[in-house]
Amino acid sequence: MMSHMPDTGRLALRATDIAKSFGDTQVLRNIALDLAPGEVVALLGPSGCGKTTLLRIAAGLLSASSGQMQIAGTRVVDGSRFNAPPETRGIGMVFQDYAIWPHLSVLDNVAFPLRMRKLGRTARADRAKRALDRVGLLHLADRFPGTLSGGQQQRVALARAIVAEPPLVLFDEPLSNLDRELREGLALEMGALLRDLGLSAIYVTHDQSEAFTIADRVAVMLGGEIAQIDTPEQLFAAPSSVEVAQFLNIGALIEGRVCSARGFTCNRDRLSVPVRVGSAPEGPARILIPRTAIRPDAQGALMAQVLRCQFQGDRYLLHLGLEGDTTNLVCPADHAVAVHSMIPLAIDADRLRLFPH
Ligand SMILES: Nc1ncnc2c1ncn2[C@@H]1O[C@H](COP(=O)(O)OP(=O)(O)O)[C@@H](O)[C@H]1O
Ligand SMILES: [Mg+2]
Repeated sequence: MMSHMPDTGRLALRATDIAKSFGDTQVLRNIALDLAPGEVVALLGPSGCGKTTLLRIAAGLLSASSGQMQIAGTRVVDGSRFNAPPETRGIGMVFQDYAIWPHLSVLDNVAFPLRMRKLGRTARADRAKRALDRVGLLHLADRFPGTLSGGQQQRVALARAIVAEPPLVLFDEPLSNLDRELREGLALEMGALLRDLGLSAIYVTHDQSEAFTIADRVAVMLGGEIAQIDTPEQLFAAPSSVEVAQFLNIGALIEGRVCSARGFTCNRDRLSVPVRVGSAPEGPARILIPRTAIRPDAQGALMAQVLRCQFQGDRYLLHLGLEGDTTNLVCPADHAVAVHSMIPLAIDADRLRLFPH
């Protein structure tokens, strides 16, 4: 895992205060992002939250309305005044469906980005072969893309993106059109490859498991802002807001009140949840009960009714209702439990989080 690097000259990317409006509509605001060399950051957010717009600003395909950006220590964006052209940034890109050309050989596909450079044909081929070698595909240089597997096509797209040895590689949902099973395998392979190659990369996706598989850190983007940027583990352990917790689907959020004597109470004080209140102010709040913070336990303090018991192959998933509260909890269980029965739950109080209103 990369640590945060204060030496800005060594960062692969530094974005400060980037904003973007189309006419009267602001689609990006307050974007700050530092990417250490060799670090992979995923931009994870729902469709329309501004991920592609931010990627296009980094690539130089779109100008920012305000803010600054540096790539490998070189200024590329300075407000709306300065926007270094894409070809001077030397960035590699991998698009949806890879955009590899079926009528070109693997070698010619990979050499394609070099055609604008003052390099002879042999020098271009040599560099393309080196890139293919780095992704383990040198033996397929003469093949045509249509004869390759999905994983091999992905490697061709990556070889093409790194052929000019870019300081930064940008990925825009390269796997989003594939079916789930294929996507999971390719995401694993892509994550391993990015790590082995030591690439600095921004990887855009709306798929949480893909982001968690591929990235060192994940920037959760909501409504044109980076709501939180952290390691996947840290996002789950300490979501910074109700919105982040909801988007990541970490667990149930229940409305109630912080009460210093009883912890957190809900359902007109009939139910109390044993949370350490700490410095949270008394008054209305929401509590996050992560799925992994509750489990059926005979000694548990919280009673819940089993609404559904769903067999998942390797375990059961219980859908639970708390007395008098409409929010459903979900938690894994080793055994089937009868629907409608009341069961005691143990709660790991350290993992509950309060969000005062
Ligand atoms: N050229 C444009 N003109 C006007 N609005 C745009 C343009 N490009 C994107 N948008 C709007 O900006 C918002 C963010 O779009 P986008 O960056 O493509 O989101 P994402 O990639 O996260 O799905 C959307 O509401 C989209 O409609
Ligand atoms: Mg997009």
